[in-house]
Amino acid sequence: MFFTMLVLRLVHIFAAIFWGGGALLMSLFIGRGIQATGEAGQQVARQLLNKQRLHIFMSVAAITTVLAGVALYWIDSDGFSPAWMRSGPGIGFGIGGIFGLISFVTGAIFGNGNASLARIGAQVNGKPTVEQLTQIQAAQKRMQTVAPIHLVTMILAMIFMASARYFLF
Ligand code: HEM
Repeated sequence: MFFTMLVLRLVHIFAAIFWGGGALLMSLFIGRGIQATGEAGQQVARQLLNKQRLHIFMSVAAITTVLAGVALYWIDSDGFSPAWMRSGPGIGFGIGGIFGLISFVTGAIFGNGNASLARIGAQVNGKPTVEQLTQIQAAQKRMQTVAPIHLVTMILAMIFMASARYFLF
């Protein structure tokens, strides 16, 4: 079991660092830089999404974090035993996990929006058609709605994950 826990922890924490760090960097810096630099920024976005497949790597890191996290929670709680789930660390990792899952769902909606914008952007020839404009505006609206929820729940997941083992009550 020791080896399983070691591998699960390494997988969980490495994937969480890539996903969490990537989400903060995209939300607070790269995303804003792309928006502020017009066509040049759109070219960078299309390169990151259409060529370098950034959203695929972020999705794989997010799914890996969640699956390894749930496996760790299952092992630590001895199969979701109420006694451990009501303990300090159990409550801490539980709350952190719930924030992580909300960040996962909102991140998926944001990532899909980004991928649709990059796909439509690559299809636009000169001025976007009315249909393309409607699709762009719908994707941007979805992304604007979930972006702050994704960011705040990611930060809260990080805080609870990093402190849960010290919830000794
Ligand atoms: C999405 C749902 C998540 C679940 C169910 C989950 C679950 C867990 C569990 C059960 C542990 C304890 C492992 C052990 O006993 O050794 C843990 C540790 C950890 N998790 Fe998560 N996690 C999730 C998301 C995240 C996220 C989003 C991050 C950061 C971005 C993260 C970062 C960490 C870190 C750094 C540790 C090590 C903490 C320590 O050993 O004190 N986790 N996670």
